[in-house]
Amino acid sequence: MKIGIYGGSFNPPHLGHLAAAESAARYLELDRLMLIPAGIPPHKQLSADAPAPVHRLAMTRLMGAQIELDTLIPVEVSDMELTREGKSYTSDTLRLLHERYPDAELWLLMGTDMFLTFHLWHAPEEIVRHAGLCAFGRTERDGEEVFAPQRAFLGEKFPGCRIVTMTLPNLVEISSTELRAGMVSGESEKMLAPQVYGYILREHLYGTNLDLKHLTIPQLRPIALSYLKAKRCAHVLGTAATAVKLAEKYGADAHRAEVAGLLHDCTKKLSMAEQLALCERYGIVLDELEKKALKLLHAKTGAALARDVFGVDDEIYNAILWHTTGKPNMTVLEKVIYLADFIEPTRDFPGVDTLRRTVWEDLDRGLLMGLEMTVEEMQEMGSPIHVNTLTARDYLRGKENEGKA
Ligand SMILES: [Fe+2]
Ligand SMILES: [Fe+2]
Repeated sequence: MKIGIYGGSFNPPHLGHLAAAESAARYLELDRLMLIPAGIPPHKQLSADAPAPVHRLAMTRLMGAQIELDTLIPVEVSDMELTREGKSYTSDTLRLLHERYPDAELWLLMGTDMFLTFHLWHAPEEIVRHAGLCAFGRTERDGEEVFAPQRAFLGEKFPGCRIVTMTLPNLVEISSTELRAGMVSGESEKMLAPQVYGYILREHLYGTNLDLKHLTIPQLRPIALSYLKAKRCAHVLGTAATAVKLAEKYGADAHRAEVAGLLHDCTKKLSMAEQLALCERYGIVLDELEKKALKLLHAKTGAALARDVFGVDDEIYNAILWHTTGKPNMTVLEKVIYLADFIEPTRDFPGVDTLRRTVWEDLDRGLLMGLEMTVEEMQEMGSPIHVNTLTARDYLRGKENEGKA
């Protein structure tokens, strides 16, 4: 097994780190990538405004999930250096990883600066005993003329050490200092993965100080993504965009539709225990089915979180609340969110095109079709169906029959 190890302050993790990690992971054909935020780095002091370790860990996890989604290489984010007492040495980390994975081929990933000063690190001979060195140039200037002499020098000093160097094309050069300085103005957004930027705004890091209850859509969008698993981001953006179009066609408020679309799955990634903790916190009462069905819970906790953290109004709250089961006599906005979630562009299931067509022809007929498809699917899987879904369907069937009478 080939494992890449990429350590750093990750203060914050940015697109330069992401692109470097992805290129190196593909180039080395890694089986796994480990991202290790540094505790107290021996070679530099953290900036005065550095967020608490728990935040650097959370941001690195968000970036790691994106790398995993992009490369399909499993990514693990380790807190082993953050929880270690005293100075954090790479040689200690590699010794521990070698003990943990005695048969693995370890590769230490680093940028040019680190590579050029590698011989000055603490116990470099121990590092090269356990791992190969993979250095990537981050700018056009970091080519062979810089790498070759150092490669020869290290090869002589540490006979047998494995070294790979590469200059990554199109890699943006990002200075973390400038990045932090441009955070308050919003200038730095383009240098960060959206979910990482959203996390910074949501946790008020690096001097940002947004009022979460009065966000614009461009501010809310990355923040909403910071709550999601990386693979669900496209679904949520698709739901929000579809909700806006449906709202415009059927006369609901487009802004509310977008907010509800962005936040509708904001608690979806939480575990059962975390969901139940939120229910307790927000005084959410559950029926017997909801106590067992994680999928049903996220609509209730999501609505409560959206109201508590982002101050959404009752219309948005209810659109999130009913997006999974539906209910009789839904408002136009509730129907819009229920259906946008169902037909957004990344959805792919048998019958989705017919459903899409129907929704665009007639909102209520589309809703009835969506509810019937849900009931049918649950019956096929032998899953219990929530009573609200059945009454929602029967309500619409009754209305249809009224129309025919
Ligand atoms: Fe959902
Ligand atoms: Fe959804």
